[in-house]
Amino acid sequence: MTGDDASERSEEPQTDGGATGADEVALDPWGSSSVSDYRKLFEEFGIEEFDEILPEVPDPHYLMRRGVIFGHRDYRPVAEAMRDGEPFAALSGFMPTGDPHIGHKLVFDEIIWHQQQGGDAYALIADLEAHSARGLSWDEIDEHSRNYLLSLLALGFDPEEGELYRQSTNRAVQDLAFELGIEANFSELGAIYGFDGETDVSHMQSVVTQMADILYPQLEEPKPTVIPVGPDQDPHVRLARDLASRMRAFGVTTAYASFEATDAELAHLSAAYEARGEYAEEAETPRCEEAAAWLAGAREPDAPALESVVDKLENAGMEPLRPRTRFLNRRAGADAFEGLIEAIDGEKRVFEEHVDVFDLEREEARELAREIELEYGGYGFLPPSSIYHRFMTGLTGGKMSSSIPASHISLIDDPEEGYEKVKSATTGGRETAELQRELGGRADECPVYELYAYLLAGDDDEFAKLVYDECVGGERLCGDCKEQAAELMREFLAEHQEKREEVEELLEAAEIELESPRRG
Ligand code: TRP
Ligand code: SF4
Repeated sequence: MTGDDASERSEEPQTDGGATGADEVALDPWGSSSVSDYRKLFEEFGIEEFDEILPEVPDPHYLMRRGVIFGHRDYRPVAEAMRDGEPFAALSGFMPTGDPHIGHKLVFDEIIWHQQQGGDAYALIADLEAHSARGLSWDEIDEHSRNYLLSLLALGFDPEEGELYRQSTNRAVQDLAFELGIEANFSELGAIYGFDGETDVSHMQSVVTQMADILYPQLEEPKPTVIPVGPDQDPHVRLARDLASRMRAFGVTTAYASFEATDAELAHLSAAYEARGEYAEEAETPRCEEAAAWLAGAREPDAPALESVVDKLENAGMEPLRPRTRFLNRRAGADAFEGLIEAIDGEKRVFEEHVDVFDLEREEARELAREIELEYGGYGFLPPSSIYHRFMTGLTGGKMSSSIPASHISLIDDPEEGYEKVKSATTGGRETAELQRELGGRADECPVYELYAYLLAGDDDEFAKLVYDECVGGERLCGDCKEQAAELMREFLAEHQEKREEVEELLEAAEIELESPRRG
């Protein structure tokens, strides 16, 4: 899948608001950040719908309740840890390419909320990425970074509890990036990101650095970790999840005989094992070839993976068919493999590169594998999770872009300017007041409504709903609605900027370096 979409990507960022084809979804971290159809992200990329997990999240944030956070990968372990008071972490990163704006505020809020829920919180400045992929100078980077950090602290990030760092000075991240780079090669990066012979080496290095960022919260101890980002970062999340498992010392799988099987094949094997009484000469020792004959006769001929599993069973011949949990030696040294074998109780069969055990469930086996891995100096990474928020529509329609000042509101815009920008925003209103009263406004397509839902209504769901209902019911007219939004924006900016001043000292006291000694 990753190979296919890479070919659709152009090197140049697209600047339209999805106009290049409403059907196209490309997830490109350095290109367009507009998504024309969120449903496709579920179908084509396997992002899961956030709504389905919402009931499992304790005291969910309003961005979750309102569907602004619309998708996730594997958020369940994070939600569970939060509920059970177990350790978990949240981390995100910011490329300091311009002023922090109200789109970035979503991510700041997400990190802060996870911190308040008891998680270890991390925010990093992606200065290596900004320097290599976007060509920013170190002076520009320093100036922008400071602005991001002040807004993050002003919104409530606690730098004493959480950790702030910049990529360029975090030695542990650099070292981890180097190790992770051993598990990723150029063809893979090419397929995922569309890199080619012209891509510079430092840009590639910034990718492994981001992989290290994502796994950094687990360096001390593996724990569920969520990465709140926009869906354009999903390729990074997928790669980080892959690398996390490639770094594991042992794999744990289920098998029924000496051969390895895919999930689809396992389903057939399990059915054959359950039905052993029907075909096995000795009921307790069904043979692989007997199972092959039964499967070939009893199942739909075109069922997926049926042919391949029948082949495998035939090759295994008289070998008994018997369920087992298998530890595969992926990256473990001889002593760790020995240590694992010793730690397994009960019946086990030891092979060159794997051990089969018969009295251990897969989950327990996973736990044991992680324990031994950690004991012998491995990382034991859990695959990182992610949550995805919708991109805000630009105030001028199209996408919200840092390079179009009127399209966004910067967190350091003068409050008066913020007021004016809201006042001149496009709306989802009708041509005339009369039509608006008759048909109602289109809140779902209105950038001003988004401002209410994403920011201005804050935690007050009733207020957000009131605006929505009044709008679509035709009771709310755009002029007044914008006036109200503009005033709220002015207030928000004034307050935020006051807080920014108050947290100056907090930032000076934080551990992060605010000035880079680098040149260029
Ligand atoms: N690539 C991200 C961006 O384009 C920044 C980033 C770097 C990041 N490291 C990260 C995001 C780790 C999330 C997690 O803005
Ligand atoms: Fe948008 Fe408000 Fe107009 Fe509705 S009334 S379309 S929410 S500006």
